[in-house]
Amino acid sequence: MTQAATSAKEITTPTIGIVGGTGLTELEGLEITGEKTITTPWGAPSAPLVTGNLSGVPVIFLARHGNPHRIPPHQVNYRANLWALREAGVRTVIGVNAVGGIHAAMGPAQIVIPDQMVDYTWGRGHTFFEGDIEHVTHIDFTYPYTETLRQALKTAALDEDVHCVDFGVYAATQGPRLETSAEVRRLENDGCDLIGMTGMPEAALAAELELDYACLALVVNWAAGKSDHIITMDEIQEAIDAGMSGVRAILARFIQQ
Ligand code: HPA
Repeated sequence: MTQAATSAKEITTPTIGIVGGTGLTELEGLEITGEKTITTPWGAPSAPLVTGNLSGVPVIFLARHGNPHRIPPHQVNYRANLWALREAGVRTVIGVNAVGGIHAAMGPAQIVIPDQMVDYTWGRGHTFFEGDIEHVTHIDFTYPYTETLRQALKTAALDEDVHCVDFGVYAATQGPRLETSAEVRRLENDGCDLIGMTGMPEAALAAELELDYACLALVVNWAAGKSDHIITMDEIQEAIDAGMSGVRAILARFIQQ
């Protein structure tokens, strides 16, 4: 391949994929260039992959819950989503997740880049290593998020002057209901700092496909029992409105690194 061909490939192959969650069904600022409908051995992804340029850099965007937002967390086809992204050339995935905050530093509208997780989900298609396999595979998952990617997101946040917390144990719960206050106390006792319904099996599937993966979480409510009121959809929407611009700013800066 000639040098010119190599650099053309580098410019046009989108290696970064963004999986948008609640509050990020479409990526504002993305200059859309097309859509890819991909079928995978695991079925169809949540939506067609949207190709485009963010800050002039090619990326692929996927709405985790579909567009319009209609697939609940436990019915997302995480395997098809990750497989399709990889098939499209993606090697680095940022998962954007709305979460509830347990840790005192993780109140509504706070952005968090977690560094660990505990998986409480069940019954989801959570591995590629089953069915007609040649041998049993156990991936290492000591560090569920790619550290260099976490640091790159943190740098982007600093550059954009967006306050973010760069640690936290993400509890992945089954949903779609929110937790009881006793469940939140249990999660806190387990060492968890924030709660979401979509962080797993996404992170583990990315690891199985050897994709770099990090989570950019936006806290949209205090977890159940952590405030003096019950959780309302209005307060969640308010926090999304207040915090999602910061998430977008981080992504736009991150992509330029
Ligand atoms: N719990 C679980 N998932 C969530 C929450 C929560 O409080 N808020 C947003 N996603």
